[in-house]
Formats: sequence, C-alpha cells, structure tokens
Amino acid sequence: MTTRPLEGKTALVTGGSRGVGAGIVAKLAADGAKVAFTYARSGERAQAVAAAVDEAGGTAHPIHADSLHEQDIEAAVAQTVDHFGSLDILVNNAAVGTFAPIVDLKMGDIDAMLTINVRSAIVAIRESLAHMSDGGRIINIGSINADRTPFPGQSIYAMTKGALASLTRGLAHELAPRAITVNNIQPGPIDTDANPAAGPAAPSMLGVMALDRYGTTAEVAAFVSYLAGPDAAYITGSSLNIDGGFTA
Ligand SMILES: NC(=O)c1ccc[n+]([C@@H]2O[C@H](COP(=O)([O-])OP(=O)(O)OC[C@H]3O[C@@H](n4cnc5c(N)ncnc54)[C@H](OP(=O)(O)O)[C@@H]3O)[C@@H](O)[C@H]2O)c1
Repeated sequence: MTTRPLEGKTALVTGGSRGVGAGIVAKLAADGAKVAFTYARSGERAQAVAAAVDEAGGTAHPIHADSLHEQDIEAAVAQTVDHFGSLDILVNNAAVGTFAPIVDLKMGDIDAMLTINVRSAIVAIRESLAHMSDGGRIINIGSINADRTPFPGQSIYAMTKGALASLTRGLAHELAPRAITVNNIQPGPIDTDANPAAGPAAPSMLGVMALDRYGTTAEVAAFVSYLAGPDAAYITGSSLNIDGGFTA
C-alpha cells in the first residue's frame, strides 16, 4: 500500500479552476489532503476540477472568490475552515499578467496585477494564520521573472512576483516560532492558457533556456506537494526555481 504524505491535512489553493492551480489541487488531493480552491470566472472548469478529484477518490471543494476583493478571500478562508475544520496548507496561486511597456499599460491593469498577485496573497496569509495549525505550510507561486526579466513588457508583472519573494523571506522569520514554513516557487514557462507551449511567445522563451521544452502543471504541482509535506520541514524563506534552465 502506498502512503499518502498529506493524509489528514487540509489545504486552500487560490485560482484552482485552470492551469497550474488546477494541477496543484489534483496533486494535493491525490497525496491525501482535503483541498478547497477558489475560482473567479471559470465556474464550469472549477466544477470539472472538483469532479475529477472526486472520481479519483479525493476531496476538493470549489469556492467562488474573486481575488480582487478582500472580503471574498476572507470568506474563502472561513469557508475552508467551516468545511474541513482546519487549515494546514495555503497555496497562493491566483495571478494575472498584462504584458506591455509601462507607458502603454492602463492603471486598471497595473492595479489588477498588484491586487490579485500581491495584495490578495497578503490577505489570504493574514486570514489563514488565525486558523493554521503549527507546522503549517504557506506556498506562494511566484515567477522566474522575479529573477530574470529578459523581455520588454514584463516589468510590472515581474515586480509583483519579486514582492512575493520578499514577503516569503520576511514571513519565514515571523512564522518560524510556530514551525510554519513559507516558500515561493518560481516557475519558468509552463504550458497553460496564460502561456501556451504552442503560443507566439514560446520560441523566444525556449531560446534562452537550457531545456528545449515548456514545463507541465504536474511538474509544478509535484514541487508544491513536496514543500507541503513532512519531508520539507527544513525549507523556509526560499524562492525555488522550476524553470527548465531559464536562469541557468
Ligand atoms: N504559466 C506560466 O508559464 C507561469 C510561469 C511563471 C509563473 N506562473 C504563475 O503560476 C500561477 C498560475 O498561472 P497559470 O499559467 O496557471 O495561469 P492561468 O492559466 O491564467 O490560470 C490562472 C488561474 O488563476 C485564477 N484567477 C485569475 N484571476 C483571479 C481572481 N481575480 N480571483 C480568483 N482567481 C483568479 C483563474 O481562475 P478563473 O479563470 O476562475 O478566474 C485561474 O484558475 C500564477 O501565479 C502565475 O503567475 C505561471
């Protein structure tokens, strides 16, 4: 019989209806956690993610919560705790990217990136901490663009991901007395709606990488599950790259 390293744990993943987030929901559930996840616009896809987890014998609970709104995130955390009775693992995954030179970006797009990518993560962490067990896990999904920003038009998005790296380092110290670890995963190009492997941006990205392919959502999800599990108790405050050699 295989052991499931997250058996008995509960998790909340933001933005679990598609892409990397959906992969994380599936993997955490397969590894034994009960997983709540948020979505904003993709209700049908969220239901499909939950149904697939259910079919595989796991537990997933979709919650409509727009990361633009603080009260939605507060309600999502409360609903997770109501539903499962605890919260051990928080994954801040929801994010948006609008890519254009700073002079062409509308303030609304900049505000959305700041709010969804950074402010919502702060709110989710602050709310979760009231419920999180000692030994809990906070995992932010950053981006390799925090460390390397080689293409014009990425500056604000990259800045939001750099903010997560700093937040991660500071919180590691704040939360160490409770044995809560805080880490930041920095993916390179991963094949999703936001960055399709067959999309127009792919050749330029592959051109600067060591591996000649995009990563998969399953590869990122496996990394998240490892950090969420008992074997990763000594990793905290780290920004960890999974980037196919984007920074090599
Ligand atoms: N793909 C890549 O190459 C790559 C590289 C580096 C880092 N990342 C990071 O990986 C994470 C996931 O990216 P992805 O490629 O999977 O993106 P994606 O395909 O665009 O999916 C984004 C997810 O976030 C959710 N989301 C967006 N805005 C939201 C909001 N206001 N409230 C709640 N949920 C919201 C979406 O839900 P709805 O559709 O329901 O709104 C969706 O589930 C992000 O943090 C991204 O920055 C991705």
